[in-house]
Amino acid sequence: MSATMVIGQGLSRVDGPAKVTGAAKYAAEFAMPGLVHGVIVSSAIAKGRIVSIDASAAEASPGVIAVITHENAARLPYAPMKERPPVDPQAGEQLHVLQGPEVFHSGQHIAVVIAETREQAAHGADLVRIEYAEEPPQTSFGDAAARGEYRPETSQEKGKAKEDERGDADAAFAAAPVTVDATYTHAREHHNAMELHATVAAWDGDRLTLWDKTQWVDNDRKAVAHAFGIPEDRIRVISPFVGGAFGSALRTWPHVMLTALAAKQVGRPVRVELTRRQFYYAIGFRPYTEQHMRLGADRDGRLTALINEAEGQTSTYEEYAENTLQPSQMLYSCPNVRTNYRLVPMNVNTPCPMRGPGVVTGAYALECAMDELAYAAGIDPVELRLRNYAETDEHKKLPWSSKGLRECYSVGAERFGWSRRPAQPGTMRDGGKLVGYGMASAVYPTHRSAATALVRILADGTADVLTAASDMGPGTYTSMTQVAAETLDLPPSKVRFALGDTDMPMAPVHGGSITMASVGSAVQAACRAVREKLSALAGNTGALPGGVDYAELLRRVGKDAIEATAESKPGDETKQFSMYVFGAIFAEVRIDPDLCEIRVPRLVGTYASGRIVNPKIARSQCIGGMVQGIGMALLEGAEWDERFGRVMNGNLAEYLVPVNADVPSLDVTFVDEHDPHVNPLGVKGLAEIAIVGVAPAIANAVFHATGRRFRDLPIRPEHLLLS
Ligand code: MOS
Repeated sequence: MSATMVIGQGLSRVDGPAKVTGAAKYAAEFAMPGLVHGVIVSSAIAKGRIVSIDASAAEASPGVIAVITHENAARLPYAPMKERPPVDPQAGEQLHVLQGPEVFHSGQHIAVVIAETREQAAHGADLVRIEYAEEPPQTSFGDAAARGEYRPETSQEKGKAKEDERGDADAAFAAAPVTVDATYTHAREHHNAMELHATVAAWDGDRLTLWDKTQWVDNDRKAVAHAFGIPEDRIRVISPFVGGAFGSALRTWPHVMLTALAAKQVGRPVRVELTRRQFYYAIGFRPYTEQHMRLGADRDGRLTALINEAEGQTSTYEEYAENTLQPSQMLYSCPNVRTNYRLVPMNVNTPCPMRGPGVVTGAYALECAMDELAYAAGIDPVELRLRNYAETDEHKKLPWSSKGLRECYSVGAERFGWSRRPAQPGTMRDGGKLVGYGMASAVYPTHRSAATALVRILADGTADVLTAASDMGPGTYTSMTQVAAETLDLPPSKVRFALGDTDMPMAPVHGGSITMASVGSAVQAACRAVREKLSALAGNTGALPGGVDYAELLRRVGKDAIEATAESKPGDETKQFSMYVFGAIFAEVRIDPDLCEIRVPRLVGTYASGRIVNPKIARSQCIGGMVQGIGMALLEGAEWDERFGRVMNGNLAEYLVPVNADVPSLDVTFVDEHDPHVNPLGVKGLAEIAIVGVAPAIANAVFHATGRRFRDLPIRPEHLLLS
C-alpha cells in the first residue's frame, strides 16, 4: 500500500485548530494603519425618491470624516460585462449604489457615514436626516401576481429550467383516474450564516485590495472592476475564511462597491460590516414561491400527468430565476409533463441562491404531491416512487451517469424501520403524542467548472497547493489536502493548502456543490503534473515510484523547489449523460395533540453521491443540511409586513432557526457508488442535496401523524391549532 491512502479517510479538519483558536481571520477582522469605519444608512421607504438629505449634524459629530450620499458620491461607470457571471441574474441591472435618488426597496443603502470608530460612524448614521417622496410600493405577492403573468424570457435562456412540455399533460391530467391538485408555498428565507457580510477596502494609488466575505474571489474582482471601470489586474481580493454563507456570498453585493467607493473618496482604508438587520435587505434571500402541482396517475399509481406551475418573487430591477421546475421534469418517469415558471416583481431587494436553490423548493412541492398521490392511490409512498422510477432522464433524454436512488430507498427504509409504518394516517400514538412517518426523495444536479491549481514541492519535502477557491464551511481546506496528499504520496501534514486570493490560480464559484468536482480535479491534475515534471528531471522513463523522498530527489536534481500548474475542465460528458446526486430522507414527527408542538425525534438520510473523499466531513455536510431542512419545514421564515415592505423579524432572536433542542438523532449513510463519468475524482457533490427532501419528509410525516395536510412552510403549532 502507498504510504498515503488519504482519500476516503475521515481526516479531521485541517483548519479546525485555526478556527477554534481564533487564528483564522474573517473579512471584518482585517485591519491596517489608518483604517476607518463605515456605517450604512438604509432607506425607510420601499419605493420613491430621496428629496433631501441633511447630513450637517452627522458631519459635525465627533470622529465623523465624511457622509457619502448620492449627492456627493463619485459616479461609477458600472460597465456591462461581456458575459454575466452565473451568480448574477441574467436580466435586469444590478443596483447602482449611491448613484441616484431612486429607492427600489426598503433597507436600500442610501448613505454611508465614515468615522474613526465604528461607534462614531453608527452615531453619525443616526443623525442623517432624509426626506423622501414616497410612492405606493408593490409589496404584496398576490396583488403583484394578479397584475399579470410575467415571463422571464432572458433568465430562462441561461441554464435555468425552461418552460417546457413533453406529451400532453393537461389532457392526460383530465383523463387520469387518480389525481392530486394542490398548491404549495414556502416562506421567504434568509441564509443567516454566523459571519456577517463585511468588506475592507484599501486603495494604494489606483490599486485596490479588498478583504471580503465572498464565495468567489475571482468574480468579486471582476464585478468590482466593471463597476469602477478599472482593469481587473489592479484589484486583489482576499478571503481566506468564510463563516458560513449558503449562497449569500455568491454574488458581489452593493455594499462591496460602496465600501470601495468610500475608501477612494476618503483616501483611507474603510471597513463596512453589515448589521444583522441590514443583512435582511443588503443580501438576497430564498424567494417566496408558490407552486401549483397537478399529478395524474392510473390506479396502480403510475404517473400519467405532471404539471408544475411556479411563481417566485423577484425585485423590480433584476430577474432572479431559479431551477424550481427541475425535479418535476426529471425525477420520475412520466410521459406527459408540463412545467412553467413566472416571476413576480416586487419592491424587494433581489433574491439569490440559498442552499439547494430552486431544487429544494421544487422538490418540496413535488415530494409532498407524490405523498398525496400515494394516499389517493392507496400505495405505500416508497412503493409509489419505485413504480415511477426514472430509468433515464426523460427530460434531457439521456442516460444517467449513475443513479443509486433505488438503493437509497431500500437502505434508508431499512435503517429507519419504515416497514413499521401503518398505512392509515393518524393511527400512531406514543405516550399521548401523535406519531407520524414521512419520506421524500432528494436530488441535485452534479456540475463542474474549469479550475486551476498550482503545486509547489519545496526542498524540505513539503508541498504548497494554491487555488483561488473558497471554503464557506464544507471543508475545502481538508478535502483538497487529502486529494493532494494522496496524489503526491505525502502525509497530509506535509501538505499546506491555501485558497481565497485572486493572486492564486483561477477557481470557479464555491457554490452549486461544484468545488470538490472542479477544484479537486484541478488539484489532482496539478499534483500529477508536478510528479511528471520531477520524474522527467530525474531522468526516469516512467512515473515516480511510490514513497519517493521529495527532499532527496530535489537535492539530486539540484533544485530548491519545483512547481506545476494544471487546469481541469469538463469535457462533453454532459452531452452524453445526465448527472445528478440522489438521496432518500425518512422523518419521524411527534406532535403534542393539545399544544400542537411538532418535534422531529429522528431523520434518516441515505445518499448516492459518488465517491466520498472524507466521510467525517461528508456526514457533517449532510447533518448540517438536515438541520437547515428542519428549519425550512418548521421554523424559518421572514415575517413580511406588506404595509412597509419590511421584514418584521429581521434579527436572530425572532427569525427562528433550529437550536440544539430542535435537532434530533440524525442518521447519514452513503451507498457505494462508482461514477466514472462525472469527473476524474468520481465525486458528485454533497452541499446542496443535504437540505433537499428534508422539509417534504417532515411535512409528509405531519400528515401521517394527524391526517391533516399543511402545504405552506413553515408548519408551526399555530397552523395546527387554528385550522
Ligand atoms: Mo450554494 S446556494 O451555490 O452557495
